Amino acid sequence: MASRCLAVLLAAASVLARTPPGFTPSSETDLVVEYKGFAPMNGAVVSKSVTAAEPRIGTLARLNGSSYAVIMIDLDIPTNNPPKTNTLLHWMQTGLVPAASVTTLNSTSGPIRAFLLENRSNSTALAPYIGPNPPARVPLSHRYTQILVDTSGLTERGMLALQTAAKNRSGFDAPTVLASAGLTGKVAAGNSFNVTNPGPAVAANTTGSAADGGQGSASGTAGGTGAGAAARPETVLVGGLGLFAVLLLGL
Ligand SMILES: *[C@@H]1O[C@H](CO)[C@@H](O)[C@H](O)[C@H]1NC(C)=O
Ligand SMILES: *[C@@H]1O[C@H](CO)[C@@H](O)[C@H](O)[C@H]1NC(C)=O
Ligand SMILES: *[C@@H]1O[C@H](CO)[C@@H](O)[C@H](O)[C@H]1NC(C)=O
Ligand SMILES: *[C@@H]1O[C@H](CO)[C@@H](O)[C@H](O)[C@H]1NC(C)=O
Ligand SMILES: *[C@@H]1O[C@H](CO)[C@@H](O)[C@H](O)[C@H]1NC(C)=O
Ligand SMILES: *[C@@H]1O[C@H](CO)[C@@H](O)[C@H](O)[C@H]1NC(C)=O
Ligand SMILES: *[C@@H]1O[C@H](CO)[C@@H](O)[C@H](O)[C@H]1NC(C)=O
Repeated sequence: MASRCLAVLLAAASVLARTPPGFTPSSETDLVVEYKGFAPMNGAVVSKSVTAAEPRIGTLARLNGSSYAVIMIDLDIPTNNPPKTNTLLHWMQTGLVPAASVTTLNSTSGPIRAFLLENRSNSTALAPYIGPNPPARVPLSHRYTQILVDTSGLTERGMLALQTAAKNRSGFDAPTVLASAGLTGKVAAGNSFNVTNPGPAVAANTTGSAADGGQGSASGTAGGTGAGAAARPETVLVGGLGLFAVLLLGL
């Protein structure tokens, strides 16, 4: 009996990892990242056109901190020394406050009731949102992870550390940045999704430096949008499984 419970718990734990395997700091709490009726969750595959404009974010349970920051990172930037990859900061927004009441968001797994994180003080993003735009290089498929960090009581020095880190998007290292801001252990929720370039990949040395990684500008939408419809059924499946696990566990 006990061992059966343990097995169920272990299975649940592997289903419930919200950030990609191997990524630190990890989180097992859902972060809802919603792009106008579309919330790719926990490893779902999504088209880049869907993710072009800044999403709304929320949590399934109400958070009790007074302020939060969202950080989004591409973990699979190609370099000129494959299979070595680099990272790129896509978004850093501080000053987010949990809403007091729930909002129903459309998601790939049906309606989700979430407590939105609101930009009530109109804080300017430390790193404005850049939509995913993986180049036609190996790896074609990129993991984008989003973490929500509890910044209640962030010191002035901590804020300065975040501002400095946000200036250099390339090579963004979350554990180092959070440590420099005194925010180690403060990750409250996480999510990830994949965006894939349809390929074929061109040679590593013909498309510019590793630093830009071929990423788009803030407009993010230039180029193909064709993968959208094809990606959706998969997203529905993965998202649906995630929500099913959540419901099953009563989380
Ligand atoms: C959510 O989806 C439903 C059904 O497709 C639609 O009627 C509604 O307008 C959508 N709401 C938002 C905010 O996108
Ligand atoms: C929020 O609640 C958790 C326990 O649920 C507690 O550990 C934490 O200190 C609380 N934080 C604040 C800012 O009240
Ligand atoms: C933030 O912006 C909204 C909409 O422009 C405005 O109504 C609100 O007063 C602003 N809040 C603050 C704290 O400046
Ligand atoms: C917060 O408000 C500022 C100023 O209006 C805006 O530049 C920024 O994009 C907003 N961020 C979010 C997440 O709404
Ligand atoms: C997401 O992308 C990563 C990195 O390329 C890959 O390892 C993983 O299999 C992809 N996941 C899905 C569901 O396609
Ligand atoms: C940004 O970070 C990368 C990787 O850590 C480093 O190579 C580069 O020199 C940094 N650029 C600036 C302007 O600090
Ligand atoms: C680029 O790659 C091609 C084929 O892989 C190789 O022949 C060429 O020497 C490389 N050029 C540079 C500058 O590394």
